[in-house]
Amino acid sequence: MRTAFVTLLAFAALSPLALGQNPSDGTFGPYLQSPTENGAVVCWRTATAGTSEVEYGTTQNYGQNVQQLASAQWHQVPVTGLAANTLYYYRAVTRANGQAIFSETGSFRTMPPRGAPLSFVHMAETHDDDEVTKFREEVAASGASFIVDASDQVDDGAVLNEWDHYFTIGEAIYRNTPVVNAVGNHSYVGTGLFKTGIFGNLNMFKQVNVNPGNEEWFTFRVGDVLFIYLNSTWYFDPFRLSTSQISWLKKTLADATDGNDDPVFKVAVFHTPPYSSGPWYRDYLEKIWAKNFFVKHLKAARTDLVLLGHDKFNEHSVVDGVHYVQVATGALSAKRIQAKNPGKVWLSAQTRGMTVVRVNGRRLDAQIVDNAGNVLHSFSIAK
Ligand SMILES: [Fe+2]
Repeated sequence: MRTAFVTLLAFAALSPLALGQNPSDGTFGPYLQSPTENGAVVCWRTATAGTSEVEYGTTQNYGQNVQQLASAQWHQVPVTGLAANTLYYYRAVTRANGQAIFSETGSFRTMPPRGAPLSFVHMAETHDDDEVTKFREEVAASGASFIVDASDQVDDGAVLNEWDHYFTIGEAIYRNTPVVNAVGNHSYVGTGLFKTGIFGNLNMFKQVNVNPGNEEWFTFRVGDVLFIYLNSTWYFDPFRLSTSQISWLKKTLADATDGNDDPVFKVAVFHTPPYSSGPWYRDYLEKIWAKNFFVKHLKAARTDLVLLGHDKFNEHSVVDGVHYVQVATGALSAKRIQAKNPGKVWLSAQTRGMTVVRVNGRRLDAQIVDNAGNVLHSFSIAK
């Protein structure tokens, strides 16, 4: 009897109730958001409300700990005060009803400081997330500090279980590499006319993701690169996206080119490509808007690279000295190649792709790779 009790007690205290093994139970993570030189935000969701704790350190013994005692199901814990460009190990812990739930150990490298080399990867159309997991080894091998995901991450951004699936299936990637997600058309809602347009919202997107600013359009600087995220799904929110967002963009680009601590490279990230061989009807519905409202300003400020998604194939275009890259890391469809793209340099709908970008000093090298590590296409930008 006594033995059984001890065993039960030990089980309760030590058994790691792993998070997020079931892609539709509302529990997922941990995953990493908002990467900086000094930290990141560790996120996870539990079935039962409990504490939010992160154990972390430069060895797998952790040694440091940050905790929020307020009971919650959504856990978002900023880990701060870390050294730049340093590998940290961590695990998430939730305590509830006398039981502790531990995640598996994750790791991440804090962002490099000014002047240090930077690697990152660009994914898009990850909403076929089972395919994305095949890039796990390529992401690790790339040494990427973080992932730029140009959207769409899920089919229906308003549905919790869609995000559960995304973070559960992709857990081995997102537990060890921070992802910064752009808004796409599916971030609003999924199917059905009355679920879209003015009836849609980004509440769930903003609950799940921890982006700077208003979480739709924002910048962050890593090393010598300024990342400028934009929301290109203008038709769901035309007035705000064409006014507030554009005045913000103009100010952001002015600051980035005023000669005062300017970045070496400017990289814009948004979902819908302004230059693409994608569906002909987008020439009228989306590309003209993106050209008038985004490209005009990005070009004038000599933006170097624009990272995109949406069309479900891989394409590299160069227009007026700006490089545009769209990839299909998850969903792939050659049927979407319908339009003429005067900027087209390279196009492939044969295999799913991801961009690996390496920045060193005044040189940027980009490679579009498949999930076996084959280089499909590459280009460089020198300043
Ligand atoms: Fe899309």
